[in-house]
Amino acid sequence: MSSYLLILVVPFIGYMFGVSNAQLNSTFYANTCPNISSIVRGVVQQALQSDARIGASLIRLHFHDCFVNGCDGSILLDDTNTIQSEKNAGPNVNSARGFNVVDNIKTALENACPRVVSCADILAVASEASVSLAGGPSWSVLLGRRDSRIASQAGANTSIPNPFEGLSNLTAKFSAVGLSTTDLVALSGAHTFGRAQCRLFSNRLYNFSGNGNPDQTLSSSYLATLRQACPQNGSGSTLNNLDPSTPNTFDNNYFSNLQNNQGLLQSDQELFSTTGAATIAIVNNFASNQSTFFQNFVQSMINMGNISPLLGNNGEIRSDCKRVNGS
Ligand code: HEM
Ligand SMILES: *[C@@H]1O[C@H](CO)[C@@H](O)[C@H](O)[C@H]1NC(C)=O
Ligand SMILES: *[C@@H]1O[C@H](CO)[C@@H](O)[C@H](O)[C@H]1NC(C)=O
Ligand SMILES: *[C@@H]1O[C@H](CO)[C@@H](O)[C@H](O)[C@H]1NC(C)=O
Ligand SMILES: *[C@@H]1O[C@H](CO)[C@@H](O)[C@H](O)[C@H]1NC(C)=O
Ligand SMILES: *[C@@H]1O[C@H](CO)[C@@H](O)[C@H](O)[C@H]1NC(C)=O
Ligand SMILES: *[C@@H]1O[C@H](CO)[C@@H](O)[C@H](O)[C@H]1NC(C)=O
Ligand SMILES: *[C@@H]1O[C@H](CO)[C@@H](O)[C@H](O)[C@H]1NC(C)=O
Repeated sequence: MSSYLLILVVPFIGYMFGVSNAQLNSTFYANTCPNISSIVRGVVQQALQSDARIGASLIRLHFHDCFVNGCDGSILLDDTNTIQSEKNAGPNVNSARGFNVVDNIKTALENACPRVVSCADILAVASEASVSLAGGPSWSVLLGRRDSRIASQAGANTSIPNPFEGLSNLTAKFSAVGLSTTDLVALSGAHTFGRAQCRLFSNRLYNFSGNGNPDQTLSSSYLATLRQACPQNGSGSTLNNLDPSTPNTFDNNYFSNLQNNQGLLQSDQELFSTTGAATIAIVNNFASNQSTFFQNFVQSMINMGNISPLLGNNGEIRSDCKRVNGS
């Protein structure tokens, strides 16, 4: 068969099986759940009344979902005889939070449009609501993901970046899911809100890399503040603002913090302080112009939300985000 014929026939076979150009789009629920955005936004807004941090926690769930076998709601599944929950993976245990709010969103959506909206899409829509409610950009979220019937705790342990990694490791983990260096810098800008526990950066404050000194890329005034907040014999779970300047606002201060050696996590400061790194110019660009950051952040959220979604008839629409249907 000539390659000319193949070009004609292959898409046709795809079409017959209903998989031709299956991809996410912004109108996926236009007929089946037209009010999805305002319902999700309403629940997030309600939760913010009593927990200023919840928006940050919700977008982080989307990130940790998408990096493990794609954006398929796998992070939301609880432990069972056959499922080793991603909730108990290293990056998530005693850290990932907001699951109860996801359940509240699911309940509200099941009341309005039963069995229609996937849990994976809930995380994507809740992320947009969280960012825009905190003063960040709004965007049209691409939808149509379906939910997994499995989880991968091992995948969560190995695929999600940790704050102690060097820039080359971080870049590699983003690249492994099809995300670029610009995506890495833009998405790290989500650390413009939310909190981090002392245990995830206190190695920078005392005897960093075994030489008796703190991390030299940490400003001395910020070092003093952080040592007070995280004493050597203190609790590793004490919370600190990821963005000390505007802790609950979604803005580009994260990037000027990095320029001032006030990145909280090692993985944050490395974006600006790694000699010769391509990320430095991107940090400077985002620090100098908030609109540029917002535009790039939106594009990178769309890129992240497009990581290997389950489409068409793959997976399922869970009726309870914590459980596979029928289990
Ligand atoms: C570049 C690699 C990244 C690393 C190493 C990293 C690491 C971390 C760590 C260690 C925490 C603190 C968790 C805790 O204290 O329990 C955190 C919090 C957070 N991360 Fe990241 N992160 C990265 C990228 C991202 C991305 C891509 C997003 C979203 C687009 C994101 C959003 C957040 C948010 C919003 C918080 C605060 C969550 C809360 O307050 O509950 N992070 N991150
Ligand atoms: C959105 O995607 C769904 C599922 O692939 C499809 O049925 C629908 O026609 C698409 N809508 C648009 C506007 O492309
Ligand atoms: C959509 O949801 C919002 C918030 O829950 C509500 O105020 C509004 O009346 C709803 N609109 C429709 C058409 O159901
Ligand atoms: C994942 O990491 C956690 C915490 O470090 C560990 O308890 C668990 O056994 C690991 N799970 C797998 C499947 O590797
Ligand atoms: C960085 O990646 C290398 C190769 O995968 C690995 O051996 C090393 O442990 C990673 N470093 C950190 C701090 O995770
Ligand atoms: C710093 O850590 C190194 C390696 O673990 C150790 O040999 C050294 O005694 C420590 N120094 C201080 C001041 O704690
Ligand atoms: C914590 O350690 C400091 C010295 O690093 C010491 O002065 C202080 O008494 C200790 N506090 C507690 C509660 O053990
Ligand atoms: C900031 O960036 C936006 C969009 O990228 C651009 O339109 C605007 O002119 C820039 N503003 C300045 C002051 O450079």
